[in-house]
Amino acid sequence: MRQKLVQVEIVPGQVPRAEVLVVGCFDGEEPSAAGLPGDVARALERAAARPGFEGREKQLVEATVESGPVAAVALHGLGKRGDLDARKLATWLDRCLETLRTNGVEHAAWLLPDCPETRGAAAAERVCRRLTLGAYRYDRYREEGSYPVRLQRVSVLPPDGEEEAYRGALDHAAAVAHGVAFTRDLANSPGNVADPEWMEDRARELAEEHGMAVEVFHRRELEEKGMGGILAVGQGSSREPRLVRLEWGSEGPVVALVGKGVTFDTGGISIKPSARLDEMKYDKSGACTVLGIARAVARLGLPIRLRVYVPLAENMPDGAAYRPGDIIRCYNGKTVEIMNTDAEGRLILADALALAVEEGPEAVVEFSTLTGACVVALGHYGAGLYSPDDELAGGLLAGAEAGGERLWRLPLWPEFAEEMQGTHADLKNTGSRWGGANTAAAFLATFLGEHRRWAHLDIAGPAQIPKENNGSKGATGYGVALTVNWLKGLAQG
Ligand code: BES
Ligand code: MN
Ligand code: ZN
Repeated sequence: MRQKLVQVEIVPGQVPRAEVLVVGCFDGEEPSAAGLPGDVARALERAAARPGFEGREKQLVEATVESGPVAAVALHGLGKRGDLDARKLATWLDRCLETLRTNGVEHAAWLLPDCPETRGAAAAERVCRRLTLGAYRYDRYREEGSYPVRLQRVSVLPPDGEEEAYRGALDHAAAVAHGVAFTRDLANSPGNVADPEWMEDRARELAEEHGMAVEVFHRRELEEKGMGGILAVGQGSSREPRLVRLEWGSEGPVVALVGKGVTFDTGGISIKPSARLDEMKYDKSGACTVLGIARAVARLGLPIRLRVYVPLAENMPDGAAYRPGDIIRCYNGKTVEIMNTDAEGRLILADALALAVEEGPEAVVEFSTLTGACVVALGHYGAGLYSPDDELAGGLLAGAEAGGERLWRLPLWPEFAEEMQGTHADLKNTGSRWGGANTAAAFLATFLGEHRRWAHLDIAGPAQIPKENNGSKGATGYGVALTVNWLKGLAQG
């Protein structure tokens, strides 16, 4: 799949040849011109002296450089120094990138502001990743050239003494950015194209590229194995369900990743209202996330043994569809009474999770656009985290913090598990009206048996956001950055 990402490079103290130099200025301060060639420094002074320019957020002044390595300087307000946090810095980077895209700039030099949020390895990785993704577009179905981004290269001048940190972060940032772009491309792909078979093909391509082993269970194997969850959800669709398993790495701890791959979720017989139903093409985001993580991990060559489980199905209403009241049997033998065919994600995950724990992995981490309730709780800003294991939860939360992704731990209280007890089967697939994200998590917990090192991330909110995300709407690739951070720590022991 085509990827258009920015090539980020770290340059030492001197301004390289580029079309424009991007500079930040804090409210009430002078932009730092230290070390800049005379004409560039003068252009910066002229820009900063523009009447009304104070360095407030969203303020932008530009000035041409008489003669020097760059043709112009763009001075962007950063707001008050004391107010700048990682999120504001990210917004500022996005705003600068937007201007570069609008102006058709191909190669920019970037003098980073010196502040805590641009210092250290984690900050360097976040900044480089964000810049790398500054040219991301999902334009596969656009007429050639109708949706252009010219930005190709950004040369970063890190704050004083931070060159090492930036150079060191670059590979990690590029690997994560490519993983994120891959996840976004997959998740943005429409349901008429990206069906279970297409997802299998993409997974096979990824495996081929990185020497991963692939195993796929089609209908016959699913039947033989007794994977009644995946089969039930997929049985109303003309596009057959499947389970894809990838295997990467030969040393280090075994980590299982599981991702919900509902390629389109109509709700089935318990059909959804039609408002914003188009967004249900994103219901395969969990699957796309774990494939993006696998891509980044392989590119970095982390010493872990990754096992990726991707249950794929399309949830459709049809004469052959599963129905409320049906009782199905999942891979671990547990029976489930279907109360609502729209609570389908947990059914395909039940089979995949039960399979994933068989190998006795060090940890199982699962991603799914599982519940609207989680979006009600956290909005599109972050994901819900469920885990009975404090250490694993702590590791994921730390990875999220370092990566600039919001993650919030939610409870696995026994009351939620009690709500999921079935009337005529072991379990039912919905709970009461309240705490829907929590009852869904409690349901999943049943399929991990005695295995305690597992985590469920409900990414229904942040997997796709209704507004622009660094210049491109739709899928965000949420979860790749935090997981790669966590895995890196795990690999280092
Ligand atoms: N895919 C949806 C969850 C979802 C909703 C994701 C909105 C993104 C945005 C999931 O399969 C679903 O339909 N869940 C139901 C569960 C309910 C029937 C218990 C829900 O959240 O309403
Ligand atoms: Mn559903
Ligand atoms: Zn769903």
